[in-house]
Amino acid sequence: MYQQSLIEPMNDMASIQSAFLLSKSVQERKALGQFFTSPVVADYMASMLHKPKIKEVKILDAGAGTGILTASTAVQLLELGCKVVHAVLYELDFSVIKHLNQTMKVIESLYQSKKGKFTFEVRSSDFVLERPDKTEYFDVSVINPPYFKYNVKTSPYAKAVSDLYSGDPNIYASFMAIVAASLNEDGQMVAITPRSFTNGLYFKNFRSYLLNVTAIESIHIFKHRDRVFKNDADKVLQENIICKFVKAASYEAVEVRASDCDSSLTSATIQNYPVELIVDPSNDQRLIRIPESLTEANLLKQAEQLESTFTDSGYFISTGPVVEHRTRNYIVSAYNQSNTVPLYRPHNVTPYAALWTGENKKDVRFELQEQHEKHTLNNKNYVLLKRFSSKDEKRRLVSGVYLSKYFENLGFIGFGNKVNYIGVKSGELTKKEAYGLSAIFNGSFFDRYFRCISGNTQVNATEIRVMRFPTRDQVKAIGEEVLKLKAFDADQNNIIVNRILKIKETV
Ligand SMILES: C[S@@+](CC[C@H](N)C(=O)[O-])C[C@H]1O[C@@H](n2cnc3c(N)ncnc32)[C@H](O)[C@@H]1O
Repeated sequence: MYQQSLIEPMNDMASIQSAFLLSKSVQERKALGQFFTSPVVADYMASMLHKPKIKEVKILDAGAGTGILTASTAVQLLELGCKVVHAVLYELDFSVIKHLNQTMKVIESLYQSKKGKFTFEVRSSDFVLERPDKTEYFDVSVINPPYFKYNVKTSPYAKAVSDLYSGDPNIYASFMAIVAASLNEDGQMVAITPRSFTNGLYFKNFRSYLLNVTAIESIHIFKHRDRVFKNDADKVLQENIICKFVKAASYEAVEVRASDCDSSLTSATIQNYPVELIVDPSNDQRLIRIPESLTEANLLKQAEQLESTFTDSGYFISTGPVVEHRTRNYIVSAYNQSNTVPLYRPHNVTPYAALWTGENKKDVRFELQEQHEKHTLNNKNYVLLKRFSSKDEKRRLVSGVYLSKYFENLGFIGFGNKVNYIGVKSGELTKKEAYGLSAIFNGSFFDRYFRCISGNTQVNATEIRVMRFPTRDQVKAIGEEVLKLKAFDADQNNIIVNRILKIKETV
């Protein structure tokens, strides 16, 4: 809660933001990635800052909008006892500059009233193309960067940060990388962004760059996606996180805070975890895992104790090779049996069973035209794992067994790219082992372990490959037990998997 004298200026800033939001259409704002931070979230982000060690503090705001984040930052610095502050604010949208200047004037007067000095410079230019990190350094940067993908072939952004990291995932990563590059020693960046950078394959090089030049001090996770920008006309459906990074620091522990949504921010649960639990040191992916509670952290620790990894156990996982929109002329109705094979889509994958009967109205077949081998697979035993779950689905991982004998007359089989398929790198996957794999993926332990790694509803093969995993003997032992069940039973499945892997889920 602010001191009485700060309440009025903070209200003024919220009104300036509302006035701008009303003046622009949702479409116009979307084009620039303009999802504005609410005053509550802005204050919370600023409260994560520690007192800079220097007397004159330089703030960098990248994609300032109406300036709410710099305003909250400046107020926080004042409360921490910093009296001399200069802010540099980048904003590309000319129509917001008037509002941005108004907000900064409010802060300027506030500092004057407290015998401090706040100066600012608004730069109406492109933050990524201008690259201030090449000439200037800053101490504090609290940002909500724009989010959008750009076209690698036509966008001027494609090569703009290639000296920092390679890859072209999303504009928000470029913003974070430039801010990180422009921080002074002990400089702080607090960023609200999609969670996608913490695990996606495309962000691997970005993660590596970021974690080499900064250290993560804390992470705030919202347990419910879509509730953070709920006041915004167009909801953000990405899962968002707030992270604080400090330049050139190294921490032994990372603080993880979790709250339901923005209104419960200040009553978030707070836990400290060893840095190795959060940033996976076991491979070059540098995945950032985020357990939402102590129980999840406990599961993550138990997962770390598993003897092997998915790949080291001898398994492979790939995305189904049939991309339907590129192979439309191969796809035929389920009744067309001549020179065709079943094409597995996500609805064919249910726990334990990957069944294609031809009776579901979504069932289709794939015609074995010339060059079909590029898209079909040899008819062998596999385990299928859905690549997408819907937002409302409780489970992320759903897996079913495909046995070659289902279609024993066929030499090939079709798997669409909305399913992943799993097999053994050498030899043949037996029915017992296939059921063991399916049981593990359908178990609540593995689903929860996966959620610590990924906030995405998409299940990527790259993430599965590096996950800790039981040994093949354990997989076979699980398979043997679950084959005795009459049908899939989630509770029984969990009991078997957890007993054989010695996992305690409720600790
Ligand atoms: C997600 S909004 C956040 C605005 C504000 N910081 C806040 O938190 O409310 C991102 C802002 O970045 C601006 N922007 C987008 N691309 C930019 C670029 N290349 N350079 C500078 N600003 C940019 C947008 O106009 C928008 O105001």
